[in-house]
Amino acid sequence: MPRPRFPLTLALLPLLTATAGADDNKLDSRETGDRAIAARRVLFKHCRECHGDAATGRLTVVDHGKLVDPGPVPVAFASRKKDSPRSQVVEFMKDGSMPPGGRERPSEADIKAVEDWIAAAAPGYPKAFDDPTTLAAILDDYERPEQSKARPNLRYVSLTELADRPDAAEAIAQAQLKLQKALAPHLAGGKKLQLTPVDETATLFRLDVSQFGWDAPDLFQRWSADNKAAGVFRMVPFDLIHLEQPNPPAVPANLAERTTDALRRMNAHRRDDALGQLRAAAFVRGEWLADALLTKDGKPTPLADDLKSLVQLAAVLPKADSLPDDKRLTGPAYPPRSADTKPTPGASPFGTFTAGDAASDAAPFAVTAEFLIDGKPVREVEQSTMFVLRVKSGRAGRVTLLRNEPEFGFVEFVPLAADQTRLTADAAVNLTSRTNPDGFAVDTLPREAMSGVVNYALFVTAGDRAPTVIQSKHKYNPVWRVVPGGDDPAGVVRLVLPLTVLREKGPKK
Ligand code: HEC
Repeated sequence: MPRPRFPLTLALLPLLTATAGADDNKLDSRETGDRAIAARRVLFKHCRECHGDAATGRLTVVDHGKLVDPGPVPVAFASRKKDSPRSQVVEFMKDGSMPPGGRERPSEADIKAVEDWIAAAAPGYPKAFDDPTTLAAILDDYERPEQSKARPNLRYVSLTELADRPDAAEAIAQAQLKLQKALAPHLAGGKKLQLTPVDETATLFRLDVSQFGWDAPDLFQRWSADNKAAGVFRMVPFDLIHLEQPNPPAVPANLAERTTDALRRMNAHRRDDALGQLRAAAFVRGEWLADALLTKDGKPTPLADDLKSLVQLAAVLPKADSLPDDKRLTGPAYPPRSADTKPTPGASPFGTFTAGDAASDAAPFAVTAEFLIDGKPVREVEQSTMFVLRVKSGRAGRVTLLRNEPEFGFVEFVPLAADQTRLTADAAVNLTSRTNPDGFAVDTLPREAMSGVVNYALFVTAGDRAPTVIQSKHKYNPVWRVVPGGDDPAGVVRLVLPLTVLREKGPKK
């Protein structure tokens, strides 16, 4: 695998240092972690069959605690003490007595990996690199008394999913570097990035979001169906990341109570909601996060731009909750988006608008939609020409239609005819405007433009709770997001339907 092409910046932790010949007393967390991951791989491959959960003799390799502390044994299996280099595990592999019989021998490199691990004082590794194990490690860390002060701002980022790959060391080093590169530009002035490993394999990191200003409350308001601001919506900038992360980790039943408690405290500022975080997720997948903040060419993504502008907004909004809304809206204009992040058709601000989209979770049920004129599907319409939106849903549910004109930035509810807001399963419906039974028309085009794009975003919510639309308090170009309503965020399907609008050519038909 090629080394990452980007240069190591001074602010980043030293990474990718060659392990061969490194002084074992001066290993950094990445090197120590790599040794734990490599030794685990060897022991699981060659020894787990007999020294697994149902351990043969006193040795088990799946429980690191028992492996390094098995009770009285003549020679330590793997000692955590630096001054006790003998290891029966290594000796038995070397003299060929283990694994027994005609089994595949561990290679020299395998044995060396276990020796290197013991030379680094046999750092710990988990039984499995899966979500429940990761979650348990997070909860142990989060509940430690010394975290009490920082708790509302602590979040966790995981690279554990890379640890089972054959090229784990390389993959994790690259992912960690990219993650640091993606996060570093968000640091508040002069700070050094604190991405602290909480486990000995150094694949799970604690992140204090206040170092980025991602803990600022009260930056968002609800947007009502009559297209007006309707009260504070309590979320912090970091919640945008949770909103956009696909496939958030599931919580196993045995950890449900502790997880709920932790998630509540993760947003102590959101006083009015039962659960602290939006689309609560116990951790963020690090590879996804790096990609969500930084494009392949190393440029900030729209999500990264949104986070930055929210931090700027927080700096100018008066902190006091008591000020009237209009006063709080007098902050400076949202910085204009750079040319690179100019909205393109389909990549609209419904995002769940901008980057990812919870839509990258598999759709929980099928919804199809198309624009029709005179019963024929169209992808472009002339300005002021009427069209309808035909929708069919695999489940009965509630329909919400929003639209956004990327050139102007705003988002608005499209009022639907009253009998169209609820869909019956598998029955096609032609959606039309509440004020015009013939359908919809687009009148606005930027001055001089010959064409423009309007994005329609269709949300179908199984059950009866419409999604909540929220808008940041920026005076111009606010940040928008759509938050699934109801208890079942997976019960929402959203489709973003770009429609090209052409300037009227002749007299209106
Ligand atoms: C096919 C099954 C099998 C495999 C695979 C195997 N072992 Fe064993 N191992 C045994 C048996 C059987 C014993 C004897 C247990 C006893 O004395 O009760 C044993 C004992 C041991 C002991 C001594 C345990 C004690 O209680 O003192 C060590 C250390 C050991 N094995 C290391 C290894 C290592 C390291 C590997 C992998 C490289 C390995 N074994 C793979 C079957 C296996």
